[in-house]
Amino acid sequence: MALVAPHGGTLVNRILSPDRAKAAEAEAKSLTSITLSLRESFDLEMIAIGAFSPLTGFMGKADFEGVCKNMRLASGVVWPIPVTLCPPDEVSAKVSVGQKVALKDDKGRLLGILTIQEKYAHDKNLEIPNVYKTEEEAHPGVKIIKNQGNTCLAGPIDVITPNHEPEFSDYRLPPAKTREAFEAKGWSTVAAFQTRNPIHRSHEYLTKCALEMTDGLLIHPLVGETKSDDIPAQTRMDCYKTLVEKYYNKDRTLLSVMPLAMRYAGPREAVLHSLIRKNYGVTHFIVGRDHAGVGSYYGTDDAQKIFDQFDLPKDIGVTILKFEHTAWCKKCEAIVSAKTCPHGPEDKIAPSGTKVRETLKAGQRPPVEFSRPEIADILIRWAQAAK
Ligand code: ADX
Repeated sequence: MALVAPHGGTLVNRILSPDRAKAAEAEAKSLTSITLSLRESFDLEMIAIGAFSPLTGFMGKADFEGVCKNMRLASGVVWPIPVTLCPPDEVSAKVSVGQKVALKDDKGRLLGILTIQEKYAHDKNLEIPNVYKTEEEAHPGVKIIKNQGNTCLAGPIDVITPNHEPEFSDYRLPPAKTREAFEAKGWSTVAAFQTRNPIHRSHEYLTKCALEMTDGLLIHPLVGETKSDDIPAQTRMDCYKTLVEKYYNKDRTLLSVMPLAMRYAGPREAVLHSLIRKNYGVTHFIVGRDHAGVGSYYGTDDAQKIFDQFDLPKDIGVTILKFEHTAWCKKCEAIVSAKTCPHGPEDKIAPSGTKVRETLKAGQRPPVEFSRPEIADILIRWAQAAK
């Protein structure tokens, strides 16, 4: 069976062949340089490897406005969050339409070349309330937009090196490679699990329920930029590897990382996450409680309800597996949700994030019904080192 088609129909590849990369490197020496923010460099990598298909570069004005206003690119294809390049104002003032610029990372290393096709005012008053549903600077996604430049530079990118220090390179499969892996394993249906946290028992339950319905499971942690109080990707990777080794069927599970920067945009980000995973070749995508949320900006099931406004097969193209809030029930002796269990909250083991951190810092394991002991031990080492 053929794998699911990429979003917009074609899997993009903006990485230059070795010959063209050599020529581009020589050309870049005479070009004006722009240093990308951390988010922009992860976005460059996502575009380069086709994870952001059909995007071939940073968005122009018509796409930006369509995305903010009604979650569609100018072509009509669904896209929920702008992907823009907005350097500091003094930098964008120096460049003009038609010019090529060298894109560099924060250490001054060349990533690729942008051909500027458009230069337009960054309408933050359009982007922030539409995408984030709040204008509060306490929201980490809003804060990033507020600090971006007031002009967007748009156009296709030609990438020489998507990332000079790719973490977890053995696990950093681009979409073309996860697609190859699924084909080699003979999986025609695959469920993807997005996460930016260590996998606890509730997460494990979602992934295993999903795998009961599909041929394979893609555990797909986000390892791009996250907020400073999220658990670092390195520690999380130790948890994921240990968990897969000890508790998952390796013939049915693929662990691979995704270099996307978190936006914490809740519902709109759930849509983005699903489209990206389609590009990686999956057919099913897990959306649980407060997906990609932060604080109390979004309702528990807002990230599920947002999919109701689409024609799912046509607009999204992956099956959304929706899960209610799950936790261990002492009476059922299982992970349950309000949908499956008759008992009340007093019977549930669901410690708050703050409580879990205090327990870990004190060198103690949270309840085994919340976290596998092997995972708790990795997190204790991290929490104690971070004290
Ligand atoms: S997220 O930012 O990537 O969404 P997290 O890693 O905590 O954060 O969640 C990964 C996925 O698991 C998301 O789909 C989220 O909705 C879901 N999820 C997390 N905890 C629970 C829970 N207790 N019950 C149901 N779904 C959950």
